[in-house]
Amino acid sequence: MATRLTIAIDGPAGSGKSTVARRVAATLGYIYLDSGAMYRALALKALERRVRLDDEAALEALARETHIVLKPATPEQEAAGLKNRVFLDGREVTEEIRGAEVAQAASRLATIAGVREVLVSEQQRAGEGGGVVMEGRDIGTVVFPRAELKIFLDASPETRAQRRWKEHQENGDSVTLLEVLQEVRERDKRDRERKVSPLVRAKDAMLLDNTAMGIEETARLIVFLAREREDSHGHSG
Ligand code: CDP
Ligand code: CDP
Repeated sequence: MATRLTIAIDGPAGSGKSTVARRVAATLGYIYLDSGAMYRALALKALERRVRLDDEAALEALARETHIVLKPATPEQEAAGLKNRVFLDGREVTEEIRGAEVAQAASRLATIAGVREVLVSEQQRAGEGGGVVMEGRDIGTVVFPRAELKIFLDASPETRAQRRWKEHQENGDSVTLLEVLQEVRERDKRDRERKVSPLVRAKDAMLLDNTAMGIEETARLIVFLAREREDSHGHSG
């Protein structure tokens, strides 16, 4: 019997984590979990309540009293490019958390150790038992350091910004490519340079640069690696 693995996919904004992870999960019959959606949901709540993004104690307290649940997206949501349904204290915020303001706020509160502690333990609970593809920034390093398959997905900043800009265009958002490139660069820098759980490739993660690769090709490669590991872990017990 093949084992059901824990697959960790980390990487910078626009590298293709959500799209690829969702596809890999669907092919393997695994659960897909977007850890970034949890940071975004908490950020939305902080913005709504006008909690200052430099007030670490208040943000940690907010994280502790917040209930965030991820569920599979509906077929209509999938068609619109949304991969997880996100519930913030029982209210659906799937679409609301996708804006640039929320993304920036998420990356600011993601620098706070106390906030990460709360969300990491919820992620560990959500993914326990295996048969899961979780994507984010610290999945292979902190959330599931013992994941059987770790991928660090990357692409050039220009390509990542171009991909994000295309999505904005399709949604009718009037934002320039340069603005998107700046937003992505700023968030990457903060994610890579923060003291707690920075975005870094785990030693045992495979670096996969998909600048010149399509979604299908990237997902197929990861599925191939997963099946190899499912078999080897199944045989060794
Ligand atoms: O989750 P992450 O921010 O890493 O990226 P994403 O939201 O999965 O991907 C950003 C955009 O790039 C999506 O519109 C994907 O369809 C697209 N993409 C692509 O065109 N080629 C790839 N190899 C990967 C993603
Ligand atoms: O989709 P995109 O790659 O643009 O971002 P996301 O995955 O939705 O994450 C939003 C922000 O949450 C990131 O810029 C990180 O600051 C933070 N995050 C994190 O610190 N750790 C994670 N495991 C996931 C997200």
